[in-house]
Amino acid sequence: MANSTASKMMDIKHSKILILDYGSQYTQLIARRVRELDVYCEIYAWDARTEAIAAYEPQGIILSGGPESVHMENAPTLNESVMQLNIPVLGICYGMQLLNQYFGGVVEGSEDKEFGYAQVNLTDTSSLFAQVEKQALDVWMSHGDKVKSLAPVFRAIAHTSSTPYAACEHVELPIFGVQFHPEVEHTADGREILAEFVHQICGCEKLWKTDNIIDTHVENIKALVGDEKVLLGLSGGVDSSVVAALLHKAIGDQLVCVFVDTGLLRYQEGDQVMQTMADKMDINVIRVNAQERYFSALKGENDPERKRKIIGEIFIRIFEQQARELNDIQWLAQGTIYPDVIESAASSTGKAHVIKSHHNVGGLPDDLALKLIEPLKDLFKDEVRQLGVSLGLAPEMVYRHPFPGPGLGVRILGEVTAEYADILARADHIFIEELRRHDLYDKTSQAFAVFLPVKSVGVVGDARRYEYVIALRAVETIDFMTARWAHLPYEFIDVVSRRIINEIDKVSRVVYDVSSKPPATIEWE
Ligand code: XMP
Repeated sequence: MANSTASKMMDIKHSKILILDYGSQYTQLIARRVRELDVYCEIYAWDARTEAIAAYEPQGIILSGGPESVHMENAPTLNESVMQLNIPVLGICYGMQLLNQYFGGVVEGSEDKEFGYAQVNLTDTSSLFAQVEKQALDVWMSHGDKVKSLAPVFRAIAHTSSTPYAACEHVELPIFGVQFHPEVEHTADGREILAEFVHQICGCEKLWKTDNIIDTHVENIKALVGDEKVLLGLSGGVDSSVVAALLHKAIGDQLVCVFVDTGLLRYQEGDQVMQTMADKMDINVIRVNAQERYFSALKGENDPERKRKIIGEIFIRIFEQQARELNDIQWLAQGTIYPDVIESAASSTGKAHVIKSHHNVGGLPDDLALKLIEPLKDLFKDEVRQLGVSLGLAPEMVYRHPFPGPGLGVRILGEVTAEYADILARADHIFIEELRRHDLYDKTSQAFAVFLPVKSVGVVGDARRYEYVIALRAVETIDFMTARWAHLPYEFIDVVSRRIINEIDKVSRVVYDVSSKPPATIEWE
């Protein structure tokens, strides 16, 4: 950082942990747990280059679990630099098996595969368990292989009924292995175990705190942008709103936001975005009312993929036009967050398990020559939310359920029209309002209404009427890859159904979706 103010700032990434990813579904969770302990960390692939690992200068390394067996052909191996750096190491699950194999122990496939809860008994005192007060811990296990014979340099520090080696410690060096998953919420005292490793054993300082993160990012943005101008596409979602708040704090009026009202947003969302961002926070926002343009482009289009394409394409063209008209913009800001970075790095090396499409403004023509600024790209979603609240965004907005980029376009089956979008937005609003009123909103991960363009009969007074169907969808999920339909109380669904049918003339029937993912997806498309 060239800027003198910036160089005076404390370096909040100075004290840090490196996580080597062996493919565990919990790798990002380990990283989030470390950061919740106020310590910065990054995730590298297990085969990251030695120079890259050394250049990162970690104070400790955590080896994640992984789905492979150490005996499989081409199984991921222990990265050589891990031992060369002479810093503390914690191997979790597959990580512990690798450490044992490396030091001459024996790992073998086990008849007693353990998935789910297990009880671990602490065999011996170990600094790793210094903050654990109990002798027996309920932990989360997920492994097929296990250590059959411990490497001679290790001693066992915990056992379960099916293995004498549920955790181990090197007799001379600060190297540890745990067969269970301390990062998973179901593991009692998992936080204490990780805290001991990160703070005491590795000696990491607690620098990664919301206020420090904001201060550092603000200084970094100022140093990077100087007196140039930044353009940001506001979607109404959490990430772009937090980028706006952060950039505004850093560079004030040098930030220009473009907010495209597609007509496919949540109920009255366009006005709310303007109220929060422009009126309350005094951010420069250009609102583009493009509802007509979207509805006419979508007229007669039934194919879900084509609908998505049309919606994305119009957004880019509007954005491009704004960028050209503004004329004096040098930077394009995007709300990329750390999991996006990890997933796109993994997909470029073929290691990604799941790749999600993101709603951003990639696809702008090169001649605009905008430099890219992504101020949230080292943050997890929970950190972005905390930043948002600290920067003055309303918690109800920051902790809202996710909303897909193409908006109501994927929730109106078949052709999208202004009339359908209006009916759907109102039905959805009633559903969400009642969820909040019944204290159920935070108990579901995502809930919304879907518009079905089929007419079904209803009776109002003496008259029969044929009107549309609204489906209610609510799911519980951790990662959105799998989801269970939310078992909302019947009485509650009854209240929502009555309100929708009574308040919206064009709806004669409400149904509740009882499909889980897989095989059903969360959205209906
Ligand atoms: P599915 O329907 O695939 O959805 O089970 C999983 C999660 O992804 C969201 N989703 C999207 N988000 N742009 C987004 O930003 C999209 O095109 C998109 N499609 C689905 C969906 O709402 C759910 O949270």
